[in-house]
Amino acid sequence: MNETIKILVIDDEKAIRNGCRRVLTGKGYEVITAENGQIGLDILAKKSMDIILLDLKMPVIGGEKVLETTRREYPDIPVIIITGHGTVDTAVVCMKNGAYDFITKPFQIDQFLLTITRAAEKRRLEQKARQFQEENIRNLYDLNLEKSRLKTIIQQMANGVMVTNRNLEVVLHNPALMRLMEIPEEIESPAPIGKIIHKESLIDTLKQILSGESPEEGSVSQEITVGANALRAISAPALGPNKAVAGTVTVLEDITAFKQLDEMKSDFVNMVAHELRSPLVSIRQLNSVLLEGLAGPLEEKQQDFVKRGMNKIDSLLELINDLLDVAKIEAGKYVQHQVPTDIGQIIEETVALMEPRAKEQGITLTHSYHNLKPVQADPKNIEEIFNNLVSNAINYSPEGGRVTITARGLAEYMEIKVEDTGVGIPPEELPKIFDKFYRVKHPKTRQVIGTGLGLAIVRGVIEAHHGTIDVESIPDKGTTFRILLPVIEPKD
Ligand SMILES: Nc1ncnc2c1ncn2[C@@H]1O[C@H](COP(=O)(O)OP(=O)(O)O)[C@@H](O)[C@H]1O
Ligand SMILES: [Mg+2]
Repeated sequence: MNETIKILVIDDEKAIRNGCRRVLTGKGYEVITAENGQIGLDILAKKSMDIILLDLKMPVIGGEKVLETTRREYPDIPVIIITGHGTVDTAVVCMKNGAYDFITKPFQIDQFLLTITRAAEKRRLEQKARQFQEENIRNLYDLNLEKSRLKTIIQQMANGVMVTNRNLEVVLHNPALMRLMEIPEEIESPAPIGKIIHKESLIDTLKQILSGESPEEGSVSQEITVGANALRAISAPALGPNKAVAGTVTVLEDITAFKQLDEMKSDFVNMVAHELRSPLVSIRQLNSVLLEGLAGPLEEKQQDFVKRGMNKIDSLLELINDLLDVAKIEAGKYVQHQVPTDIGQIIEETVALMEPRAKEQGITLTHSYHNLKPVQADPKNIEEIFNNLVSNAINYSPEGGRVTITARGLAEYMEIKVEDTGVGIPPEELPKIFDKFYRVKHPKTRQVIGTGLGLAIVRGVIEAHHGTIDVESIPDKGTTFRILLPVIEPKD
């Protein structure tokens, strides 16, 4: 804004024009002169000026006429009238018609400069004010544009969006949300959450987020069903400026098609496993008839081949059984007959079953328990857990190792531990070992045959019994699996 102020001097007297130019240029103004009103207006049409010094008595077009035109066309440029003694009255009229000020000839330099300075200041202030105003309008416009853009995106997106305030009132929602929630009518914001969400589990999650008990990852993902649709809801706190929870944001995605595909895949695996199992069981039976010599004696070599074939069949059957188990767990059909179950008895049975294998591999298997309490469980499933954990402990321990099974009753839980002194599991592998088909690659356990399904089944079974499992391991030192299963009628 520190541009030079440009002054247009319109006067037919050359002496005045030159005088003005000299004085004003000396003060740092830029001066342009015109010897009559027409030339002055022509200059104004081409060049933007800041102040006009205007003589009243001029040939061609008089000062009053010029003033009239400039007030109309350039209302922001202050006009200072130059008047002689005889025209003071006219000057006063000019003031009424919008002139900014007037000066009388002959000029008193100080007075003259003061008037010019004031006009320049006025012009500067006005320009600054206008600039601010323009900027303001532009900012508001940008803000509005941004707002409407955001609004359009939220309105058009396929995922449902819902924002609540601290009082759990819905302050923003989009059409996709209403479609996914199967709400046909319009709902005004803010609306109580119950008007839009009918799933207690989701409302509970939002309440939890509002209470500040946010999970570590910052968002909670859950599946809900609405009508025939499966939806994934991801909720997170909306943080205010001071990082305090100001509300919640939930995004809903339709995962129905994905769930159907997943189900089809499980059904397919299940079907294939079933179809494979029956012929395999027949082949196994025929082989065992051969081995027992019931179809005539076998030579040593023949016997060896048939035996090796049997081993392969057994591991195939194991894989198939595991696959069927996983499918059942995923369908929620695995845990069937829950009865009060004595963990001690199952431990005894497991040890009796595993003892020969442990001996064969040079491993000491011990067990102990105290304060046993019955748990509500399907004994077959619990057996399966022990079989998997103990056979892992034996398989992944070198000769001379020890495997220990312990069980003890706590206030609300039975705590069961399976410990070994085996190869251990590197920390980065620990989160993955419960995944389906996951096996740790370790040079010492390469020869161990397995499917990678055992721990997936173990975890599935324990979760179906409302229990938990965790694992601690130190490579080359050993591994401990710890299970908690809720006891019947906990006493404190
Ligand atoms: N007690 C253990 N000590 C060391 N590694 C283990 C132990 N138990 C399980 N693992 C690791 O976890 C993987 C997954 O175990 P699991 O699901 O039972 O599958 P599988 O035994 O068929 O490989 C194993 O391949 C092994 O690498
Ligand atoms: Mg295993």
